[in-house]
Amino acid sequence: MGRRKIVAGNWKMNMTPTEAVALAKTLIPLVKSDDVDVVFCVPAIDIVPVVEAVKGTNIKVGAENMYIEEKGAFTGEISPLMIKDAGCEFVIIGHSERREYFQESDAFLNQKVKKAFEHGITPILCCGETLEQREAGVTLDWIRLQIKSDLQGITAEQVSSMVIAYEPIWAIGTGKTATSEQAEEVCKAIRETICEIYDADTAEKVRIQYGGSVNAKTAAELFAMPNIDGGLVGGASLKEEFGSIVNY
Ligand code: 13P
Repeated sequence: MGRRKIVAGNWKMNMTPTEAVALAKTLIPLVKSDDVDVVFCVPAIDIVPVVEAVKGTNIKVGAENMYIEEKGAFTGEISPLMIKDAGCEFVIIGHSERREYFQESDAFLNQKVKKAFEHGITPILCCGETLEQREAGVTLDWIRLQIKSDLQGITAEQVSSMVIAYEPIWAIGTGKTATSEQAEEVCKAIRETICEIYDADTAEKVRIQYGGSVNAKTAAELFAMPNIDGGLVGGASLKEEFGSIVNY
């Protein structure tokens, strides 16, 4: 059986709780789908009201980040226990904005991936290269390195159930979507890397998304590529357009 597509919105730091509920309600009728898993990844403070708003629909909720401890003196952080109890089934780990602005290292992200699994939360692990790296021709080596470091100690069974998002940094928020060929090349390399570290069965099962300026016009072609199993959508996930992306 083929892999089920998964389209997730990453709302980033954009919606107040009131706005988040309104957006969720606008999107509920538009993102109905029997064929695609739909996830709203929302700011921590929006999790509880959005989980409530989407109850009884096909939409699942994810966190945009979490810390590596269950509880304690970590002022300002949010724990896996908290997001799980609030109703999150997913968590984005290692978004390039976390890596860049908050200095999250691969070793730290590896701990986060482990923690998510300990609590039965599915990680959406992000990777991606800068424009300089792409122009220097080191994209595939860089992505392989990120994946290998972030997945240390993670079992094949766990990897089979997770989501990896390939998000070239130069395509995020720039309106410059990677071509389907560029995106497919890297997603295929990620799958081959999983096959190398684990086995063919695990590589066949892991779902790999593309992210970076996905919109209603580019989604269909991207999601039709053999190694692209859906998308992680930023800007367009805050609009009715997200419905067209889900129903590409
Ligand atoms: P944009 O879709 O706004 O380019 O953002 C992509 C992204 O970073 C999703 O995580």
